[in-house]
Amino acid sequence: MKLDGVNKIAIVGTGMIGASFATLFIGNGYDTVMYAINEEQRQVGFNWVNNNYADLIEKGLVTAEQAEICKKHLTITLSYEDLADADFVYECVFENKDVKYEIYANIDKYCTKVRGISSTSSAMDTDLLCQGFEKYKDLFAVAHPWNPPHLVPCVEIVKGSHTSDEALAFICELLESVGRAPVVMTKSVPGFVANRLQHALYREAAYMVEQNIASPQDIDRALMTSFVPRYTNVGIFEHFDYAGLDMIKSIEETLYPDLCVTKEPHDLVLSHYNKGELGPKSDNKQGVLDWTDVDMNVFRQREAEPYLKFFNWSIPEE
Ligand SMILES: NC(=O)c1ccc[n+]([C@@H]2O[C@H](COP(=O)([O-])OP(=O)(O)OC[C@H]3O[C@@H](n4cnc5c(N)ncnc54)[C@H](O)[C@@H]3O)[C@@H](O)[C@H]2O)c1
Repeated sequence: MKLDGVNKIAIVGTGMIGASFATLFIGNGYDTVMYAINEEQRQVGFNWVNNNYADLIEKGLVTAEQAEICKKHLTITLSYEDLADADFVYECVFENKDVKYEIYANIDKYCTKVRGISSTSSAMDTDLLCQGFEKYKDLFAVAHPWNPPHLVPCVEIVKGSHTSDEALAFICELLESVGRAPVVMTKSVPGFVANRLQHALYREAAYMVEQNIASPQDIDRALMTSFVPRYTNVGIFEHFDYAGLDMIKSIEETLYPDLCVTKEPHDLVLSHYNKGELGPKSDNKQGVLDWTDVDMNVFRQREAEPYLKFFNWSIPEE
């Protein structure tokens, strides 16, 4: 449901992430203006949004008529002046501090009504990025999405030392209003929250392969058929409380001394990396797994499918 008093969303950058957020905001009825650096990038933005909607139609999540209504809420401009009355600005450009600072100077200069500003940065910290603002340091927080943000709910929001409680609350409410699940971090750490969890899991998975405990295929099978499905419905703290912390303590006493604690990339990863075996994108289609006979379209559909259950937009009616 649209937030009262929010009339315009601005997105700077027309690449994969910017266009995905535009898809999401217009899909929930927000008038959205994207800023493109040139005419070519303007067309790139329209192409991304059109492709995203074609994909949503194919998945049966929106109808062709609904897609047309949503797209009426989008404009793509080459002029910062068109961002002047935006309530929220989402910076979604290259992962380069100086480029981001250049954009923040323009937000300072042109945006007069803004109540919250975020960056989708994958690695840069709120306190570092907010140095690019003269005027609006208190309105800014990194809000790191998972790709594609129009389908994956989690957005990790990093409160900086200048971020006001009011701006933080506004950013969270706005993202909730388009069906996202904001996760607030009160300090910045590499990997934010979700990638730390994912890589802690991969650290142990790769270690078990190195130790000949099980094959990558069997470890993947264990992952997909044991605890992972549960965690799209309940959280790990919920489940471990439910299991009983006496049992958890006893398992930790036995298990923790045996778990991988490497601080370096694994030999497993390095051995493939050094041979140029980076996964399906490599010419020989090798990674830890053999990708030679994998249909990548089918694989991409398998990756997206679990997120479809989160589709919860308030699609506009006009
Ligand atoms: N790709 C991912 O999976 C992913 C996931 C989460 C976060 N992110 C973050 O999102 C941001 C964007 O990533 P992306 O994958 O969309 O990149 P992308 O390469 O698809 O798009 C980058 C955009 O930045 C624009 N740009 C560059 N310089 C500009 C300038 N001076 N003014 C205005 N626009 C400018 C480009 O025109 C392009 O539209 C990055 O900070 C990235 O770390 C990416």
